[in-house]
Amino acid sequence: MRTIIAGNWKMHKDRAEAQALIDALAEQVGNTERVEVIVAPPFPFLAMAVEHLRDAHIGVAAQNCHEALHGAFTGEVSAAMLKSVGVSACIVGHSERRQYYGETDAAVGGKIAALLHAGMLPIYCCGEMRAEREKGTHFEVVRAQMNEALGPISPADLAKVVVAYEPVWAIGTGLTATPQQAQEMHAFVRKELRMLAGDAAAAIPILYGGSMKPDNARELLACADVNGGLIGGAALDAGLFTELVRIAARAAAHTSIP
Ligand code: 13P
Repeated sequence: MRTIIAGNWKMHKDRAEAQALIDALAEQVGNTERVEVIVAPPFPFLAMAVEHLRDAHIGVAAQNCHEALHGAFTGEVSAAMLKSVGVSACIVGHSERRQYYGETDAAVGGKIAALLHAGMLPIYCCGEMRAEREKGTHFEVVRAQMNEALGPISPADLAKVVVAYEPVWAIGTGLTATPQQAQEMHAFVRKELRMLAGDAAAAIPILYGGSMKPDNARELLACADVNGGLIGGAALDAGLFTELVRIAARAAAHTSIP
Protein backbone atom coordinates (compact mmCIF):
# COMPACT_ATOMS: atom_id res chain seq x y z
CA MET A 1 0.00 0.00 0.00
CA ARG A 2 1.26 3.48 -0.86
CA THR A 3 1.65 6.02 1.92
CA ILE A 4 0.99 9.65 1.02
CA ILE A 5 1.60 12.85 2.94
CA ALA A 6 -0.01 15.80 1.17
CA GLY A 7 0.08 19.42 2.30
CA ASN A 8 -2.86 21.70 1.51
CA TRP A 9 -1.63 25.28 1.83
CA LYS A 10 -5.16 26.66 1.27
CA MET A 11 -5.08 30.46 0.67
CA HIS A 12 -1.84 31.17 2.52
CA LYS A 13 1.59 32.61 1.66
CA ASP A 14 2.74 35.36 -0.68
CA ARG A 15 5.39 34.79 -3.32
CA ALA A 16 8.42 35.25 -1.05
CA GLU A 17 6.92 33.08 1.70
CA ALA A 18 5.94 30.38 -0.79
CA GLN A 19 9.45 30.37 -2.24
CA ALA A 20 10.97 30.08 1.26
CA LEU A 21 8.70 27.16 2.17
CA ILE A 22 9.39 25.39 -1.14
CA ASP A 23 13.16 25.82 -0.68
CA ALA A 24 13.01 24.53 2.89
CA LEU A 25 10.97 21.48 1.84
CA ALA A 26 13.35 20.73 -1.03
CA GLU A 27 16.20 20.78 1.44
CA GLN A 28 14.62 19.05 4.44
CA VAL A 29 12.23 16.37 3.21
CA GLY A 30 15.08 14.22 1.89
CA ASN A 31 14.84 10.65 0.71
CA THR A 32 11.20 9.66 0.78
CA GLU A 33 11.26 6.21 -0.70
CA ARG A 34 8.44 4.94 1.48
CA VAL A 35 6.25 8.02 1.32
CA GLU A 36 4.81 9.94 -1.61
CA VAL A 37 5.05 13.61 -0.68
CA ILE A 38 2.75 16.13 -2.35
CA VAL A 39 2.23 19.84 -1.73
CA ALA A 40 -0.74 21.91 -2.91
CA PRO A 41 0.15 25.61 -3.02
CA PRO A 42 -2.21 28.29 -4.37
CA PHE A 43 -2.42 28.60 -8.20
CA PRO A 44 0.14 31.43 -8.67
CA PHE A 45 2.91 29.35 -7.07
CA LEU A 46 2.29 26.00 -8.78
CA ALA A 47 4.79 26.36 -11.63
CA MET A 48 7.45 27.60 -9.22
CA ALA A 49 6.79 24.65 -6.92
CA VAL A 50 7.00 22.17 -9.81
CA GLU A 51 10.35 23.60 -10.88
CA HIS A 52 11.96 23.67 -7.44
CA LEU A 53 10.56 20.41 -6.05
CA ARG A 54 11.24 18.17 -9.05
CA ASP A 55 14.68 17.05 -7.87
CA ALA A 56 13.39 16.45 -4.34
CA HIS A 57 10.71 14.11 -5.78
CA ILE A 58 7.92 16.11 -4.17
CA GLY A 59 4.78 16.14 -6.27
CA VAL A 60 2.70 19.27 -6.77
CA ALA A 61 -1.08 19.38 -6.59
CA ALA A 62 -3.63 22.10 -7.22
CA GLN A 63 -6.44 22.73 -4.72
CA ASN A 64 -9.23 22.79 -7.30
CA CYS A 65 -9.91 22.56 -11.03
CA HIS A 66 -12.79 22.91 -13.46
CA GLU A 67 -14.48 19.90 -15.03
CA ALA A 68 -14.39 21.22 -18.63
CA LEU A 69 -11.34 21.04 -20.89
CA HIS A 70 -11.57 24.76 -21.75
CA GLY A 71 -14.22 27.36 -22.41
CA ALA A 72 -15.89 30.55 -21.24
CA PHE A 73 -15.54 29.97 -17.50
CA THR A 74 -14.01 33.16 -16.14
CA GLY A 75 -11.75 32.59 -13.18
CA GLU A 76 -11.52 28.84 -13.63
CA VAL A 77 -8.57 26.56 -14.42
CA SER A 78 -8.77 23.22 -16.24
CA ALA A 79 -7.03 19.96 -15.39
CA ALA A 80 -5.23 20.05 -18.76
CA MET A 81 -3.81 23.51 -17.96
CA LEU A 82 -2.50 22.27 -14.63
CA LYS A 83 -1.01 19.22 -16.27
CA SER A 84 0.72 21.40 -18.86
CA VAL A 85 2.70 23.21 -16.14
CA GLY A 86 3.76 19.95 -14.48
CA VAL A 87 1.10 19.67 -11.78
CA SER A 88 0.42 15.98 -11.21
CA ALA A 89 -2.47 15.92 -8.73
CA CYS A 90 -5.44 17.96 -7.57
CA ILE A 91 -7.49 18.12 -4.38
CA VAL A 92 -11.21 18.04 -5.19
CA GLY A 93 -14.34 18.22 -3.07
CA HIS A 94 -12.67 19.84 -0.09
CA SER A 95 -15.26 20.72 2.54
CA GLU A 96 -14.36 24.42 2.27
CA ARG A 97 -15.31 24.34 -1.41
CA ARG A 98 -18.50 22.42 -0.67
CA GLN A 99 -19.41 24.82 2.13
CA TYR A 100 -18.42 28.22 0.69
CA TYR A 101 -18.80 27.65 -3.06
CA GLY A 102 -21.70 25.21 -3.13
CA GLU A 103 -19.78 22.40 -4.82
CA THR A 104 -21.98 19.36 -5.20
CA ASP A 105 -20.92 15.72 -5.36
CA ALA A 106 -21.97 15.66 -9.03
CA ALA A 107 -19.73 18.64 -9.85
CA VAL A 108 -16.86 17.08 -7.94
CA GLY A 109 -17.41 13.82 -9.84
CA GLY A 110 -16.99 15.82 -13.08
CA LYS A 111 -13.70 17.24 -11.80
CA ILE A 112 -12.45 13.75 -10.95
CA ALA A 113 -13.29 12.57 -14.48
CA ALA A 114 -11.46 15.59 -15.96
CA LEU A 115 -8.38 14.88 -13.86
CA LEU A 116 -8.33 11.22 -14.83
CA HIS A 117 -8.74 12.21 -18.47
CA ALA A 118 -5.68 14.47 -18.10
CA GLY A 119 -3.70 11.63 -16.47
CA MET A 120 -3.62 13.33 -13.07
CA LEU A 121 -4.20 12.05 -9.54
CA PRO A 122 -7.49 13.22 -7.99
CA ILE A 123 -7.46 13.52 -4.18
CA TYR A 124 -11.16 13.26 -3.36
CA CYS A 125 -12.18 14.73 0.00
CA CYS A 126 -15.21 13.56 1.92
CA GLY A 127 -16.31 13.90 5.52
CA GLU A 128 -19.19 14.86 7.75
CA MET A 129 -20.03 18.13 9.53
CA ARG A 130 -20.08 18.30 13.31
CA ALA A 131 -23.91 18.25 13.51
CA GLU A 132 -24.00 15.13 11.33
CA ARG A 133 -21.54 13.33 13.62
CA GLU A 134 -23.61 14.41 16.66
CA LYS A 135 -26.80 13.09 15.03
CA GLY A 136 -25.03 9.84 14.20
CA THR A 137 -25.53 10.23 10.43
CA HIS A 138 -21.81 10.40 9.57
CA PHE A 139 -21.67 7.04 7.81
CA GLU A 140 -24.71 7.86 5.65
CA VAL A 141 -23.25 11.25 4.75
CA VAL A 142 -19.91 9.80 3.69
CA ARG A 143 -21.60 6.97 1.80
CA ALA A 144 -23.68 9.47 -0.20
CA GLN A 145 -20.60 11.60 -0.96
CA MET A 146 -18.70 8.53 -2.15
CA ASN A 147 -21.51 7.10 -4.24
CA GLU A 148 -22.51 10.34 -5.92
CA ALA A 149 -19.02 11.55 -6.81
CA LEU A 150 -17.30 8.22 -7.43
CA GLY A 151 -20.26 6.10 -8.60
CA PRO A 152 -19.98 7.14 -12.26
CA ILE A 153 -16.23 6.38 -12.39
CA SER A 154 -15.17 2.96 -13.75
CA PRO A 155 -13.42 0.53 -11.39
CA ALA A 156 -10.24 0.77 -13.50
CA ASP A 157 -10.22 4.56 -13.12
CA LEU A 158 -11.10 4.42 -9.42
CA ALA A 159 -7.83 2.57 -8.90
CA LYS A 160 -6.14 5.87 -9.86
CA VAL A 161 -7.93 7.97 -7.22
CA VAL A 162 -6.92 8.83 -3.66
CA VAL A 163 -9.62 9.43 -1.03
CA ALA A 164 -9.15 11.79 1.91
CA TYR A 165 -11.49 11.49 4.88
CA GLU A 166 -11.67 14.89 6.51
CA PRO A 167 -14.24 15.25 9.30
CA VAL A 168 -15.23 18.91 9.00
CA TRP A 169 -15.31 19.33 12.79
CA ALA A 170 -11.61 18.44 12.93
CA ILE A 171 -10.40 20.86 10.24
CA GLY A 172 -8.43 23.78 11.63
CA THR A 173 -10.03 23.29 15.05
CA GLY A 174 -7.29 21.41 16.86
CA LEU A 175 -9.86 18.65 17.42
CA THR A 176 -8.74 15.39 15.84
CA ALA A 177 -10.67 12.22 15.24
CA THR A 178 -9.43 9.62 17.68
CA PRO A 179 -7.52 6.76 16.05
CA GLN A 180 -10.62 4.61 16.73
CA GLN A 181 -12.95 7.09 15.01
CA ALA A 182 -10.55 7.43 12.08
CA GLN A 183 -10.04 3.69 11.63
CA GLU A 184 -13.78 3.02 11.90
CA MET A 185 -14.57 5.54 9.14
CA HIS A 186 -11.60 4.54 6.96
CA ALA A 187 -12.68 0.89 7.13
CA PHE A 188 -16.18 2.04 6.12
CA VAL A 189 -14.75 4.05 3.21
CA ARG A 190 -12.74 1.00 2.15
CA LYS A 191 -15.93 -1.10 2.23
CA GLU A 192 -17.75 1.46 0.07
CA LEU A 193 -14.80 1.53 -2.32
CA ARG A 194 -15.00 -2.24 -2.60
CA MET A 195 -18.63 -1.93 -3.77
CA LEU A 196 -17.58 0.62 -6.38
CA ALA A 197 -14.18 -0.67 -7.46
CA GLY A 198 -14.06 -4.32 -6.43
CA ASP A 199 -10.63 -5.71 -5.57
CA ALA A 200 -8.91 -2.47 -6.62
CA ALA A 201 -10.26 -0.95 -3.37
CA ALA A 202 -7.58 -2.71 -1.34
CA ALA A 203 -4.86 -0.57 -2.95
CA ILE A 204 -6.64 2.82 -2.95
CA PRO A 205 -4.93 5.09 -0.41
CA ILE A 206 -7.29 6.65 2.15
CA LEU A 207 -5.76 9.71 3.82
CA TYR A 208 -6.89 11.28 7.09
CA GLY A 209 -7.22 15.06 7.30
CA GLY A 210 -8.14 17.26 10.24
CA SER A 211 -5.61 18.81 12.65
CA MET A 212 -2.99 16.15 11.93
CA LYS A 213 0.22 17.21 13.70
CA PRO A 214 3.45 15.44 14.70
CA ASP A 215 2.03 14.72 18.16
CA ASN A 216 -1.05 12.82 16.97
CA ALA A 217 0.17 11.46 13.61
CA ARG A 218 1.90 8.37 14.93
CA GLU A 219 -1.29 6.87 16.36
CA LEU A 220 -3.43 7.85 13.38
CA LEU A 221 -0.95 6.47 10.84
CA ALA A 222 -0.70 3.22 12.77
CA CYS A 223 -4.37 2.46 11.92
CA ALA A 224 -4.73 -0.29 9.33
CA ASP A 225 -6.80 1.76 6.87
CA VAL A 226 -5.12 5.15 7.36
CA ASN A 227 -2.66 5.36 4.48
CA GLY A 228 -1.39 8.88 4.99
CA GLY A 229 -2.48 12.40 5.77
CA LEU A 230 -3.87 15.52 4.14
CA ILE A 231 -2.33 18.27 6.21
CA GLY A 232 -3.53 21.87 6.49
CA GLY A 233 -2.00 24.07 9.20
CA ALA A 234 1.09 21.93 9.80
CA ALA A 235 1.89 21.98 6.06
CA LEU A 236 2.67 25.71 6.29
CA ASP A 237 5.73 25.00 8.42
CA ALA A 238 8.60 23.11 6.78
CA GLY A 239 9.77 21.63 10.09
CA LEU A 240 6.36 20.27 11.09
CA PHE A 241 5.61 18.97 7.60
CA THR A 242 9.01 17.26 7.35
CA GLU A 243 8.44 15.68 10.74
CA LEU A 244 5.09 14.33 9.51
CA VAL A 245 6.81 12.82 6.47
CA ARG A 246 9.33 11.11 8.78
CA ILE A 247 6.59 9.75 11.04
CA ALA A 248 4.74 8.40 7.99
CA ALA A 249 7.95 6.79 6.69
CA ARG A 250 8.41 5.01 10.01
CA ALA A 251 4.76 3.88 10.02
CA ALA A 252 5.13 2.60 6.44
CA ALA A 253 8.31 0.70 7.33
CA HIS A 254 6.47 -0.87 10.23
CA THR A 255 3.41 -1.97 8.26
CA SER A 256 5.51 -3.37 5.40
CA ILE A 257 7.10 -5.93 7.75
CA PRO A 258 5.27 -9.19 6.99
P1 13P B 1 -5.89 21.27 9.27
O1 13P B 1 -4.73 20.30 9.24
O2 13P B 1 -5.45 22.70 9.39
O3 13P B 1 -6.95 20.88 10.23
O4 13P B 1 -6.56 21.19 7.78
C1 13P B 1 -6.91 19.97 7.26
C2 13P B 1 -7.35 20.17 5.86
O5 13P B 1 -8.38 20.75 5.59
C3 13P B 1 -6.49 19.65 4.78
O6 13P B 1 -7.14 19.69 3.55
